[in-house]
Amino acid sequence: MKKADILVLDFGSQYTQLIARRLREQGVYAEILPFNVSLADIKAKEPKGIILSGGPASVYATDAYFCDKGVFDLGLPILGICYGMQLMAHHFSASVAPAGHKEYGKATIEIQKDSALFKNLPKKQTVWMSHSDKVENLPQGFEVLATSENSPFCVFANEEKKFFALQFHPEVQHSEFGKNILKNFAKYACNCESVWNMGSFAKTQTEKIREEVGNDKVLCAVSGGVDSSVVAALLSSAIKKQVIVVFVDNGLLRANEREQVEFMFKNTLKTDLISIDASEIFLSRLAGVIDPEQKRKIIGNTFIEVFEQEAKKHSDVKYLAQGTLYTDIIESSVIGASKTIKSHHNVGGLPEKMNLKLIEPLKEIFKDEVRTLGLELGLSKEVVYRHPFPGPGLAIRIMGEVNRPSLNLLRQADVILLEELKSTGWYDKTWQAFCVLLNVKSVGVMGDNRTYDNTICVRIVDASDGMTATFSHLPYEILENISRRIINEVKGINRVVYDISSKPPATIEWE
Ligand code: XMP
Repeated sequence: MKKADILVLDFGSQYTQLIARRLREQGVYAEILPFNVSLADIKAKEPKGIILSGGPASVYATDAYFCDKGVFDLGLPILGICYGMQLMAHHFSASVAPAGHKEYGKATIEIQKDSALFKNLPKKQTVWMSHSDKVENLPQGFEVLATSENSPFCVFANEEKKFFALQFHPEVQHSEFGKNILKNFAKYACNCESVWNMGSFAKTQTEKIREEVGNDKVLCAVSGGVDSSVVAALLSSAIKKQVIVVFVDNGLLRANEREQVEFMFKNTLKTDLISIDASEIFLSRLAGVIDPEQKRKIIGNTFIEVFEQEAKKHSDVKYLAQGTLYTDIIESSVIGASKTIKSHHNVGGLPEKMNLKLIEPLKEIFKDEVRTLGLELGLSKEVVYRHPFPGPGLAIRIMGEVNRPSLNLLRQADVILLEELKSTGWYDKTWQAFCVLLNVKSVGVMGDNRTYDNTICVRIVDASDGMTATFSHLPYEILENISRRIINEVKGINRVVYDISSKPPATIEWE
């Protein structure tokens, strides 16, 4: 079994993965396990420390989440974060109750006592709180390390046992020195070394894939995007002869995309590619469908059907590999207590019954980490820095029914947008850029004639992992050129608008 430096026990926080990610960024390998994992499984990982994550429950509720109490007797350093802190306090008989004053957002903490946890950090720092319960008295054997205006027990510790408890979330970016606190815990309390990197990730994933797949074969579904290309590269290096790389043209691709993907796999990635034209079946199933979630489910199901049909043509295919990322999983709500935002086609959009078993080597990491891994595996910058393109393709960028005329309009506008961004150097400065066909008609005047045509919305965003995003502040002249060209060159469009919403509260895609 693979060892982990730090084990993070997940009590259902939206941010649990961020804890592991922040540790990885500092070269420490952390693994996440469910809160109720057995003590034997914890011991088998031989961790050097344990982190108890945040979570939506209350420790005093009847349905509260508890880890095995033996966790506190392993002799390992423990860091409790938010719910994890309350759990630690509760375990050591302190009282936890609803806070009269709920705290969400920024707060300032003041360090009261020196500790390895705050080594080389300023006495006052901004942190990010999100809690509605509070610890009312200090557990026995603990002392206060830091206070905030609303929280006299904001950080407390039993230094002898190396138990630390934080009311705030060090893993989120708004906690000014949060990642340093996590690093200090790993380095000084747990004696972890900073030796882990994306190369180590590739190595452990390779071992995992070989162990799981044995002598069977894997169908690797690729879209030409960075995630699935990285998965294909990883599988090729792990089990070369057992991988069948498949690309499905679902009729929802951008202009010339199929040709570009075929070229890329043949020439850049030097991998054999089976390219399947399934556009007819996808488009016929989408006819008349306007509900976004229904579109996503139809596309997800049809993809699997096409993959399974292809798998039958080869012997011993037992697995389907996909480039699912952590962001896809959290938004499709297949873990924790988080809510479904949208069913990402390769996660929530899958049919309930599948004949192929899934392999998703990237499901614990974020897009920017995938890019680093891609470079590590030798993929070209052009592949690694391609803008993300969603599995359901243009279907979720056409408001209302998806049909060939609408796809045709959208494709033409999209080509112009990308041409303009590439020629002005803005493609590489932005996370994602695309057009949306609004299916809203408006009146215009062209020459001396009245028009009554469709509207294109241009969406360009800046992001680092796709979980949050802001609209890109493109110079007006470039926006003006994009608008002028789309209206002049795409027959059927007489108006272009720019989306100036951020995520949250909007999402990046429109559906
Ligand atoms: P949203 O719209 O959820 O998008 O803010 C976040 C990022 O994920 C991409 N996206 C998808 N990718 N399958 C994918 O492979 C999907 O179903 C899917 N939906 C959204 C989106 O383009 C953005 O980069």
